[in-house]
Amino acid sequence: MKADWISILSQEDGDYYIAKTPKNQVTITKTVKERRKFKRNLTVVTPSQKFYEIYSEEQILDIIDNLDIEREIPRQYNYLDGGAEFWDKYAQRLEQDRAPNLVRRTMELLDDNSKFLDRQLGPFARVNVIDVGVGNAIPTQNLLRHLLEAGKLNRYVAIDISQDMLNIARRNIDAWFNNAPTHPAIRVEDYVADISSESFRFATAPDSNSALDSENGDATVNLVLLLGGTLSNFRNPERVLEVIRKSMGRKDFFIYTVKLDSPATRQHFDFRARQDRGAELPRQDQSNELPPQYKFIVDLLGISEEYYDVEMDWDERERARYLQIRLKRALTISFKFPSKVSVDLNKNDAVVVWRAQHKSDREIEDMLITNGFKLLLSAQSADQEYMLVMANRRRKV
Ligand SMILES: C[S@@+](CC[C@H](N)C(=O)[O-])C[C@H]1O[C@@H](n2cnc3c(N)ncnc32)[C@H](O)[C@@H]1O
Repeated sequence: MKADWISILSQEDGDYYIAKTPKNQVTITKTVKERRKFKRNLTVVTPSQKFYEIYSEEQILDIIDNLDIEREIPRQYNYLDGGAEFWDKYAQRLEQDRAPNLVRRTMELLDDNSKFLDRQLGPFARVNVIDVGVGNAIPTQNLLRHLLEAGKLNRYVAIDISQDMLNIARRNIDAWFNNAPTHPAIRVEDYVADISSESFRFATAPDSNSALDSENGDATVNLVLLLGGTLSNFRNPERVLEVIRKSMGRKDFFIYTVKLDSPATRQHFDFRARQDRGAELPRQDQSNELPPQYKFIVDLLGISEEYYDVEMDWDERERARYLQIRLKRALTISFKFPSKVSVDLNKNDAVVVWRAQHKSDREIEDMLITNGFKLLLSAQSADQEYMLVMANRRRKV
């Protein structure tokens, strides 16, 4: 490599010039030829019109930066538009499936620990449930019923990056609880927010109009939920935890559920429910197709399946399971908006479309504590593969 490179420069009046040596001329001619060949082999793809309709200008810039710098498509962008339907179908099937999975285990853990929760909520007359990254709300259903029957449920606030996901959650809540539309048992408030950067303190702020709250500061408490392993998919989960902590009031509660690190969970990928292919498949049994919930944005970007192979595995260094596409040829993705900009991807580059960072029970607890939470409960499923944590904001007074 070194022998091929231009090694001699000449300097005149502070400017540098390539010295006109025979060796440099050979190197330059060869490089130009190679570049021409490279250009001819390059495939240019363009995102579809729908891509520009679905994502905001800021989101498109974020997608461009992530592709260009991190070689990653952040998972969150797969939940918008039709991507929400894919998640909904997948989560519905997990709920029906008898095999262990995050949806079922989350519901079991909430159920098993409801006595503890009741005792913590005991001093409060009313509870607002703030469901962050709501999905289709299936894992929250029984908890809502429980609070409703106890006469404690006040507001149900759903927060998600995807309006389509929020619409699905609202449709489900109406179907489960609101038989009389004129007098709904649960009124859903929904807000679009990106929890990797946007606070939702506006949704947890005390209700100044409530007579009960102004008489007694303890009357209402917020129960913030982050269910279904959402946190493990972020490159920087601690930033999300900070947004959540800062969006909580001094007495508010936080419940988080997650799949734990173990030799077994490192080996299994549950992209498809059992009815499709087999829940919790070992990685060697998976096909080379990209599951629809991750293919959504790859298709929108114009990256056709003939251009890539699908890879999934366990990354020991990152301690994460991952799903990525590996390019079979060099691609340029040409964006027309917000400005005309291209991202060049090389042949053999891998672009991550999903990751799940693994942490042990101790690491989950430490992460919460170092990020300003006070642990109240740490519980695990009988198989010790799933965990539920309940916490407050740690306060000095
Ligand atoms: C793995 S699903 C979990 C859904 C649900 N909580 C459950 O347990 O089934 C992740 C949910 O979080 C939402 N989400 C992902 N990233 C987000 C972000 N940055 N900001 C807000 N919501 C996000 C997704 O749209 C999706 O609804």
